[in-house]
Amino acid sequence: RTVYVNGEYLPENEAKVSIFDRAFLMADGVYEVTSVLDGKLIDFAGHANRLARSLSELDIPTPPEFDDLLEIHRKLVAENGVNEGMVYLQITRGAPGDRDFAFPPKDTRPTVVLFTQNKPGLADNPQAKVGIKVISIEDIRWGRRDIKTVQLLYPSMGKMMAKKAGCDDAWLVEDGFVTEGTSNNTYIVKGGKIITRNLSNDILHGITRAAVLKFAKEAQMEVEERPFTIEEAKQADEAFFTSASAFVMPVVEIDGAAIGGGKVGSVAPRLREIYLEESR
Ligand code: PDD
Repeated sequence: RTVYVNGEYLPENEAKVSIFDRAFLMADGVYEVTSVLDGKLIDFAGHANRLARSLSELDIPTPPEFDDLLEIHRKLVAENGVNEGMVYLQITRGAPGDRDFAFPPKDTRPTVVLFTQNKPGLADNPQAKVGIKVISIEDIRWGRRDIKTVQLLYPSMGKMMAKKAGCDDAWLVEDGFVTEGTSNNTYIVKGGKIITRNLSNDILHGITRAAVLKFAKEAQMEVEERPFTIEEAKQADEAFFTSASAFVMPVVEIDGAAIGGGKVGSVAPRLREIYLEESR
């Protein structure tokens, strides 16, 4: 595999990042995951814009030019022959050479790393036909989840708690309301209405979320953006989540309670189909 590090395209085993990198020492970096279908990037502009916002919120200087980023993404996809999969991009505050809580000087070069992952069968994921199971856990992450930082330890632990419970993912709950999944935005459907948490600093502003809500409204489906509880989710007709790597994924069980009789409903598969069709 060819990867990209700070202006260079290299074989993955030759790519190097400093041990003093701020992301390594302090999780001081942001990332994006853009999916690839039929060799083409999905929603690149959305991801590039969110990246620029994440960098600006953290005062990490000089975001790369949109066109340069697009070129790097395309080059890696072509070079690595990715037909279905994803491009991972990470930008950190760089490696100033010493460990210090204070940010390094503004002219410290940010570290830019990109690699691809091949995921054949991504669009035809058989899990989308049967749905997945989730548990709920307390959301103890920091208060700026709108910034896509690489501080993923708790989401990673949540994923492991889910696996230990024989489930696939965890839905995070704060003050009694679901914020989001470990790495996705969450939804329920009741009486045909799609309910998902409103945007704020409490959740990541999903690029897939924005696209799916737009397509839902275009298809005359009713959308309500507000927080919901696990109890309400258990009483819902359907539940699902969205992300760049899973698109639209039905959820058929929450904390052991079957949703919609434990079977995939009609709204989530329809949104998945529309999303895959419209964004390709
Ligand atoms: N995760 N919420 C969280 C906490 C996320 O980490 C993600 C994405 C989303 C969905 O955002 P989008 O639709 O823009 O992918 C919501 C990526 C896919 C990941 O960490 O792999």
